[in-house]
Amino acid sequence: MRLIIVGFGVVGQSLARILLSRASDLYTLYGINPKIVACLDSKGSAVSPAGLDLHRLLEAKISKGTVAAYDKSHLQSSLTGIMENIEAEILIEMTPTNLDDAEPGLTNIISGMRAGKHIITVNKGPLALAFPSLVELADYNNIRFRFSGTVGGGTPILEFAKRCLNGERIVSFNGILNGTTNYILTKMEEGLSFHDALNDAKIKGYAEAMPLLDLEGYDAASKLVIMANWIMGLKVTIRDVKREGITGIDLVDVQKASIKKTSIKLVAFCDNIHLEVKPTMIQKIDPICVNGTLNAVTFRSEYSGDKTIIGRGAGGMETASSIIRDLIEIRESIAKNNL
Ligand code: HSE
Repeated sequence: MRLIIVGFGVVGQSLARILLSRASDLYTLYGINPKIVACLDSKGSAVSPAGLDLHRLLEAKISKGTVAAYDKSHLQSSLTGIMENIEAEILIEMTPTNLDDAEPGLTNIISGMRAGKHIITVNKGPLALAFPSLVELADYNNIRFRFSGTVGGGTPILEFAKRCLNGERIVSFNGILNGTTNYILTKMEEGLSFHDALNDAKIKGYAEAMPLLDLEGYDAASKLVIMANWIMGLKVTIRDVKREGITGIDLVDVQKASIKKTSIKLVAFCDNIHLEVKPTMIQKIDPICVNGTLNAVTFRSEYSGDKTIIGRGAGGMETASSIIRDLIEIRESIAKNNL
């Protein structure tokens, strides 16, 4: 499997590290041998049809700030130029989430689909703004489009609802979809100030490149939109979400809630009509009342009641692990079609 990757930040570098450490068992267990043949960041690219040396690629990025330092001959390469000249089956899009116009991720994904590449993305912007049309374009071009890491980091929230609850009618769901704000609210419960907790979340790589996306509830809203489209079959975008963030919450609010055996959490909710993200006081015994960067979602289904999935919702390695899941799934899906 030859991969072109676009965006080489925290998640991209974590993916390279996983590929380095798992190369042999990915082949033995799943029959995949992923090779990165091109890697682009905002300053340039590195290309090798035989597969880039990932130690050297990481070294170039860490020491010089760009993958272009890997090989000086590719400073000006564009994604379309690379796709025309280098053979690859899969494009992995990992540029930062932009919820204004979803760029550059949206154009990268569309170009990849038109060039017949299977697409994996962890970028929420294109899906939050254009989910229905991207799924349609993927179908039209007969390519696989996977986005497991856009919701839940490494926790398979989308797959849990889509596959494990297959055949059930999910009536509604609510949950915590943003690791950064959950981390901040948890730390505030422990007595840390909002700003210290936010700084901590930035240093640990949980926060978005623009942390206001986390704090104002946009990140949770974009994940809610992806779930509503994929799981509930709604045709919605981020503009359909009623949203409020956590910037109005202070230490006193958090501590008052704690005395009542409750916690303030940024809760996302969806039924077939309403989509909402807002700070909500929930009982500490509620299964979605999780701490730190954990995400948790309770699905309410028509016949079998409530089910909750909990797991780490942010972090480079966690999110990169979802890309491995998507790679395996694409491999299996192609193999099934070829039977
Ligand atoms: N900033 C996001 C979060 C990263 O904190 O949940 C994972 O999508």
